[in-house]
Amino acid sequence: MDTMALRNLSCGLFIAGARDGGRLTGCTVNSVMQVTSDPVMISVCVNHKNFTNQCIRDSGGFSVSILSEDAAGEVIGVFGFHSGRDTDKFASIPCDKTAMGFPVLRLGVCGWLECSLESFTELPTHTMFIGRLTDAKTSPGSPMTYAYYHRVIKGKTPVNAPTYEKPLEGLWTCPLCGYQYDGSAGPFEGLPESWTCPICGQPKNAFRTS
Ligand SMILES: Cc1cc2nc3c(=O)[nH]c(=O)nc-3n(C[C@H](O)[C@H](O)[C@H](O)COP(=O)(O)O)c2cc1C
Repeated sequence: MDTMALRNLSCGLFIAGARDGGRLTGCTVNSVMQVTSDPVMISVCVNHKNFTNQCIRDSGGFSVSILSEDAAGEVIGVFGFHSGRDTDKFASIPCDKTAMGFPVLRLGVCGWLECSLESFTELPTHTMFIGRLTDAKTSPGSPMTYAYYHRVIKGKTPVNAPTYEKPLEGLWTCPLCGYQYDGSAGPFEGLPESWTCPICGQPKNAFRTS
């Protein structure tokens, strides 16, 4: 089986937002899609282990911030490699609240959706949430595709993402987010000690090679 075919499934990159009581939280997802048009229904798959999973159930819906190509790698990193259980992810990220009180990012996005929870299906590792669109807004910018995230930002996905792939051996790898330095700015050893992971901000000396 040639699983590289899965890379040819096109999808975008998003921040799924929810509420933890009065606190705003959410996580990076690539598994958002529109599943029907009348009424408009949106699905998102969230791992059972992710804090956002419980928050979507408790808050009765979710928001989707549609990331644009100018979204900062650090934003994808904060939302994709840290958990809202122990991190206040929105502490330093400017956001607005939808009418239902879900967070939507102000910067690095080309639109957002607000959905009320309609139903969900339990899959072996993830819950597929189906939401009914209750509000939406567009803003200028080109949507970031998952392919762009891999090709241009050189980002990776953690084990909890539905599209996780094992890292390549022999490359200097970030222990937190899995980013692998590709040598484009010279040998890894020659990078300044102040260099940090472009996705999650880990220091150079945290990187490991196999
Ligand atoms: C590029 C990318 C795509 C991801 N896609 C998904 C996804 O579709 N579903 C999911 O459950 N987790 C996905 N993740 C992983 C979650 O964002 C990650 O596990 C996060 O730390 C969960 O945070 P939480 O515990 O606050 O919910 C993705 C991460 C990245 C970096």
